[in-house]
This record gives sequence, structure tokens and C-alpha cells, in this order.
Amino acid sequence: MGKKVTVVGAGFYGSTTALRLAEYNIFDTVVLTDIVEGKPEGLALDINQSRSIEGFETKVIGATTTADGGGYEATANSDVVVITAGLPRKPGMSRMDLIGVNAGIVRGVAENIARHSPNAVIIVVSNPLDEMTALTQLASDFPKNRVFGQAGMLDTARFTNFVAEKLDVKVSSVKTLTLGSHGDTMVPVPSRCTVDGVPLSERLSGEEIEDLVTKTRNGGAEIVALLKTGSAYYAPSAAAARMAKAVIEDSGEVMPVCAWVDGEYGITGVYLGVEAEIGSNGVRKVVESSLTPDELNNLKIAAEAVRSKQADVQSL
Ligand code: NAI
Ligand code: 2OP
Repeated sequence: MGKKVTVVGAGFYGSTTALRLAEYNIFDTVVLTDIVEGKPEGLALDINQSRSIEGFETKVIGATTTADGGGYEATANSDVVVITAGLPRKPGMSRMDLIGVNAGIVRGVAENIARHSPNAVIIVVSNPLDEMTALTQLASDFPKNRVFGQAGMLDTARFTNFVAEKLDVKVSSVKTLTLGSHGDTMVPVPSRCTVDGVPLSERLSGEEIEDLVTKTRNGGAEIVALLKTGSAYYAPSAAAARMAKAVIEDSGEVMPVCAWVDGEYGITGVYLGVEAEIGSNGVRKVVESSLTPDELNNLKIAAEAVRSKQADVQSL
């Protein structure tokens, strides 16, 4: 059977993700949905009309859905689903300010997806990310490996970009890593950062690295403050699309994602940003690497911060 991916939410994040997925030319069908009548259909038409120019055969299908599950037939038997539905931040808002309204949206979406695509792998991007990932697993009742979230790919890409700009080197020569939560307790991992294989600490002072870490932690907010009406979507959609590609190609790539942690790093029973091997069933395994005592301590602090919030989502 042909490969099928659904992107729920045809806003900035969802529509750019759908476009990237279509342009990979590895899916038969990309379904794009939204509750705003006509919006996903219109965007699908537009993307399909670019096919002969960009040279891809994937067909995009737009479908308007309703809160009670109307329209979800179009998504049936998707292999992968990316959930982008929900409000983005406005200037001055934290991701956590979105939790009440987005929990209602994401819960309904997860239930409908589970009904129509019982074997799908779900990639969550709606904010607050760690909590919405936990909620999606609860509402879908899918095995934990088949639900994971996008944040670490984006935060890591931002860190990489800032390091490359600071040193005026190619982004391809820079390797960085962020773990932890997609929020205040994001954990950049300087010990895993290199430039042409040389530890970052040999190229930048501790203070300079700390500045870039702070810039990375504020990377999303900086863009929100400039855009004023929404949040970033080019880098975020690149990250989510790559994760969906890794699933559909059963690639085994190791990526920083928000995955269920069950004993790794001495942390148990929480969705947290860690590195994981991604395949056709979602998370094949969490990959534990060596961290400095400080980095490990920060990861544990992040785990406890998101654990209490994830417990709260059960009642939302
Ligand atoms: P947007 O406002 O452009 O689009 C959201 C779309 O979701 C709207 O078109 C809306 O009609 C739709 N929607 C609302 N309820 C729905 C439902 N029940 N079913 C289907 N669609 C529904 O926002 P944008 O920029 O696309 O962001 C989407 C989400 O992604 C936000 O929560 C944002 O905070 C989050 N985000 C997460 C990032 C991450 O790294 N995890 C990065 C950037 C954004
Ligand atoms: C970002 O990091 C707002 O989560 C979104 O750009």
C-alpha cells in the first residue's frame, strides 16, 4: 500500500510541513486538515499545482474536519500523523500559557486520529510540547513508542545556527545537541558540541557558550517578538518533516525528540527531550549518551519540571 501521512492543522506550521513532506516525493498522499472550512482544501490545491514545477508526484488532499470527528475519513489509515493543531504564542506569552486551550484541541484530535488510523505513529508539535505529547499518548491510548514530540531537533538546529554564525563557519561543520524540555528547562549539552570535530570549548569561552545557550533557549521567543502575530515555522516544519521521513523510511536515525523515558539517565515515567532511534514504529529506543554531571543534573531538573505539568494534563 502507498504511504500516507496526515498533517492536522493547516496553519503556518502545518502547511509548511505538508509542503516539505510532499516535496520529499516519498509519500503517495499527504492529507492536510483544519477546522477552518476550505483552508486545507485551498492549500492542497495550491501545493498540487506546484508539482510539475518542483517535480514531485505526491498528492496533497485537503480536508475540513469538525470537533466531533467529521471529515476524518480522509485521514484513515495514515502511517504517520503530525499534530500541529492549536494556538501559537503571541508576544509576551510563554508556551505554558497555551496549555488550557490547546489541551482541548489536542485531546479531540488525538481521539479522532486513534479511531481512524489505529496503527499510525503520531508526531506532536502543538505547544506546550512536552505536555501535549503526554496528552496525545493518553487520549490516543497508543503504545508510548508510537507517540513522540518535536522540539529537540528544532532547538538543536537553532543552537547549531548560532554557533556557526558566531564562528563564521559552515553550519555543516558544527554539531550541537539540546535535550530536556521545549521550554525554560531546555538543556543544551555543550560537551556534545564540536566544530570540525574540535570541542566547542576549544573555540569559544565558557561565557560565549553560555550566551549562545541563552540565545537558543530564547530562540522561539525572539521570533515571536519580531513576528508579533504567531511563532516560527520554517525551522520547526523542517524538523517535524525530517522526523516523519525517518519513520516512513524506517531509517534508524538518532534524533533529539520528546520521547517516553523509562529508566534511561536514571529518569523514569515521563516524556522528555532525549536522543532516540527512530523507525517505522516510532521510537525504537532511547539512546543514552555520556553527559557531564552538570548536564545530567539539568536533565533531571527538566524531567521533574515537566513531570508535574504532564500529570496535570490528565484532567484537562
Ligand atoms: P497557526 O495559528 O498558524 O495554525 C494553527 C491551526 O490549527 C489553525 O489553522 C487552526 O484553525 C488549526 N486548528 C485549531 N483547532 C483545530 C482542530 N481541532 N483540528 C484541526 N485544526 C485545528 O499556528 P502555527 O504557527 O501553525 O503553530 C501551531 C502549533 O505549533 C502552536 O501550538 C505552536 O505553539 C506550535 N509550535 C511548536 C513548535 C515546536 O517546536 N514544538 C514550534 C513552533 C510552533
Ligand atoms: C518555537 O520554539 C514557539 O515553540 C515555538 O518557535
